[in-house]
Amino acid sequence: MARHFLSTLDHDSAELARLAAAALELKRRGRGAGRIPGAPDLAGRVLGLLFFNPSVRTRVSCESAMARLGGTSVALAAGSDTWRFEARPGAVMDGDTQEHVAELAPVLASMCDAVGIRKAELMTSGAQATSASASYAELARDEFLHAFARHSDVPVLNLESNAFHPCQGLADMATLQELLGAPRGERYVLTWAWHPKALPVATPHSQLLAAADLGMRVTLLRPEGYDLAPEVLAAARTRAEAAGGALEVTDDVEAAYAGARVVCAKSWGRLDAYGRPSEEARPAADLRARWIVDEAKLARGADPWFLHCLPIRRNVIATDGVLDAPRCAVVRQAENRLWTAAALLADRLGRA
Ligand code: CP
Repeated sequence: MARHFLSTLDHDSAELARLAAAALELKRRGRGAGRIPGAPDLAGRVLGLLFFNPSVRTRVSCESAMARLGGTSVALAAGSDTWRFEARPGAVMDGDTQEHVAELAPVLASMCDAVGIRKAELMTSGAQATSASASYAELARDEFLHAFARHSDVPVLNLESNAFHPCQGLADMATLQELLGAPRGERYVLTWAWHPKALPVATPHSQLLAAADLGMRVTLLRPEGYDLAPEVLAAARTRAEAAGGALEVTDDVEAAYAGARVVCAKSWGRLDAYGRPSEEARPAADLRARWIVDEAKLARGADPWFLHCLPIRRNVIATDGVLDAPRCAVVRQAENRLWTAAALLADRLGRA
């Protein structure tokens, strides 16, 4: 049975914390070293990558990690390198889909030792786009990803789906461990920010779970109507409390920042208009000032670190003053995508 990495919810908090700690050890030994000294040797192993959406960090971190472990990778841009894929069971393929995941997954699994997939409909346009009328509940089933995993006997890594971005979550866990040493009980704020487009919820879901799994006192700060998925909030609360932390949800900006050790910003779209951004009543741009992360807001915290998954729109999500300050750790957080990818690949593909 292949050990997939589809959501951090499939793993217990302690296992995730161990993977994040292993990533920081690989970083300590491997920074500037080329091949990572003492890491599992993945010579001859191949990572397949299937991207339905654009990426900088996810693609480069996976390819770089594989190279630094001695293996190799092959990346396909779905839709331009390939034809259109089908995932529905029993589909009569007389339309514009030309290959079913029932063949695609075992074929790639026969040629690769693991397969990473990025498929998130809110980021998709053109040949691989899903019906714009699909609800969040429908999209969150991540039908293609799960169908691929069922048909694959090698590990499948979720590189961002509609519901989760577990690789970002793992990198955030490593970053929080690195910045704080012992994150348990420390105050972490995940704040919504205004953005001109409706963005997916997969990343804030996995970021919220990362802080919860570390037992932090987590505040989700968002305007009314911008809640994350209730099942993810419930899981985050359960896992935070089990790990010695807590979760609160608020729209009180001033109170939320007070005493924060970490502020992580992210924008996301309303779930009740998910996939239909034209129907989403975006807050007026003059509300940007209420939600942007600026120096005055951060000054309410306990000298907080600032995090964002990137890419970030400067002076929309956070000001230049925040992004250019010494307590901004977004580049470190992005670099940790490399070391957590290496830890994950070493865990899944390393020979005993
Ligand atoms: N944070 C993140 O996943 O970056 P990319 O979209 O560039 O891969």
